[in-house]
Amino acid sequence: NLSILMINFKTKEEIEVMKESCQLAAEVLIMIEPYVKPGVTTERLDKICHDYIVSKGAIPSPLNYRGFPKSICASVNEEICHGIPSDRKLRNGDIVNLDITTYLKGFHGDTSRTFFVGSPRKKAEKLVEVCKEALQLGIGVVKPGAKLGDIGATIQTFAERHGYSIVKEFCGHGIGSEFHEEPQILHYGNFGEGLEIKKGMVFTIEPMVNLGKPELKILSDKWTAVTQDGQISAQFEHTLCVTETGVEVMPRLDGKTKF
Ligand code: MF3
Ligand code: CO
Ligand code: CO
Repeated sequence: NLSILMINFKTKEEIEVMKESCQLAAEVLIMIEPYVKPGVTTERLDKICHDYIVSKGAIPSPLNYRGFPKSICASVNEEICHGIPSDRKLRNGDIVNLDITTYLKGFHGDTSRTFFVGSPRKKAEKLVEVCKEALQLGIGVVKPGAKLGDIGATIQTFAERHGYSIVKEFCGHGIGSEFHEEPQILHYGNFGEGLEIKKGMVFTIEPMVNLGKPELKILSDKWTAVTQDGQISAQFEHTLCVTETGVEVMPRLDGKTKF
């Protein structure tokens, strides 16, 4: 069973350019935060992000990607990922993940976070905190010589210890001049298994953590993934690069990011 992975290792120069794209994507998440309020539609958030990205000389990567009709993904409550911005109004107590990917100077940068709309419910607050922490713990094991399974096992163990479940159908991914490159970064697995992590790899980690069961279904719009049990789901995502000795989160925002 021969399988060949085509991993595009990035040069120092490519990584510097990629950081600019990642930084722009991270800035979009900061820019949009004050607009994420009860009463706003996800379509309105999409338009604001679209215009901001274009004003910086970049292209929103999701727009027309495999037929995706909007510039960002907006996934509310039981929506796990790939929610299509619409005239749905956000309501107090909702959670919403905004997933921003920018294409700047030939490279994609990909990041997402889950926002609270108004005042969070306790259950949502805990889920979102654990998801954010799961991403940070996953990033923390990345270094040359570690295995991709170490990332997945770390994230899965932590989320399940809190009684939550990990979505298995979607994963992190290599990223560069293409939106989705090899390898796949699973958010579950076993320590010591999988591909060896090497310097020059650039990939995302983007765990989706469900309050209830892990199973999902895809809505008739062919994009929106929702939990089968209707319970809420959270997600956070960073793009990172593997350095000589460890890992670097690509955007340099000097503590301005919320995660
Ligand atoms: N940004 C998503 C990711 O993290 C992918 C969105 S694909 C789209 O990989 F077409 F829905 F935009
Ligand atoms: Co993304
Ligand atoms: Co991604």
